[in-house]
Amino acid sequence: MGTAGSTTSQNIRPAEHVAIIMDGNGRWATQKGWPRLVGHRKGAERVKQIVRAAPDLGIRWLTVYAFSTENWKRSTEEVLGLMSIFARYIEREADRMAAEGIRMRFIGDRSRLDTRLRDLMNGIEDRTKGFSRLNFTVAINYGGRDEVLRATRALAADVAAGRLAPEAITDQLISSRLDTADLPDPDLVIRTSGETRTSNFLLWQSAYAEYEFTPTLWPDFTPDELATILSRFGNRDRRFGGVATA
Ligand code: IPE
Ligand code: IPE
Ligand code: MG
Repeated sequence: MGTAGSTTSQNIRPAEHVAIIMDGNGRWATQKGWPRLVGHRKGAERVKQIVRAAPDLGIRWLTVYAFSTENWKRSTEEVLGLMSIFARYIEREADRMAAEGIRMRFIGDRSRLDTRLRDLMNGIEDRTKGFSRLNFTVAINYGGRDEVLRATRALAADVAAGRLAPEAITDQLISSRLDTADLPDPDLVIRTSGETRTSNFLLWQSAYAEYEFTPTLWPDFTPDELATILSRFGNRDRRFGGVATA
């Protein structure tokens, strides 16, 4: 059995791109009789810890789902609270990410975010663009359908303008028009909190991802649990439509 992060022989390969649906912050707080935002703050602390642990676990790409296109349905207080947590995260972690060689980027539709947050997002992307020890991507106002819709409109505009022939639209061309154009597809998608759905996360990119669901609420998710999940992943036989290799 391979340990997490080890690159070994046979079929055991580490999960290089791990994507996480960080769910359960609200329940974690409610269970303790606290406001939901307390759970989100604790959740942000967990993100820092997981980001710090990721490179030693063999993860090169880490993508986390922080706010979906559907999360605007929540109360104004919760939405604004989350936006301020995102802004503070960038401000407080910027130096550390730069010192540790972490490249931070964002996926999702930024047009609906406020200017201050957008400026912080653009600033940290620019500041860390030369780093590659860990590629850390945060999905904010992200929805898989919204992303495919925006890409489709852009392709349709190219076709209508005569710049693109419909036959030239390939699998790869679509991938290259998504927010994740510069990211490999995820190897493993983890969802915390016991829900077993994707909630619109990386729909196109996860076609052959492995999924892991854990009942742990996100504020309780530790690097140790991540290591356990990764070692299970290393023993899976990913066939991609072919036949077993074992
Ligand atoms: C995940 O936790 C964080 C976001 C969706 C922003 P939730 O806020 O969804 O927590 P639960 O699912 O209500 O417990
Ligand atoms: C998914 O969680 C989105 C994020 C983790 C940011 P939700 O809590 O919004 O998903 P549903 O509503 O349970 O499907
Ligand atoms: Mg939830």
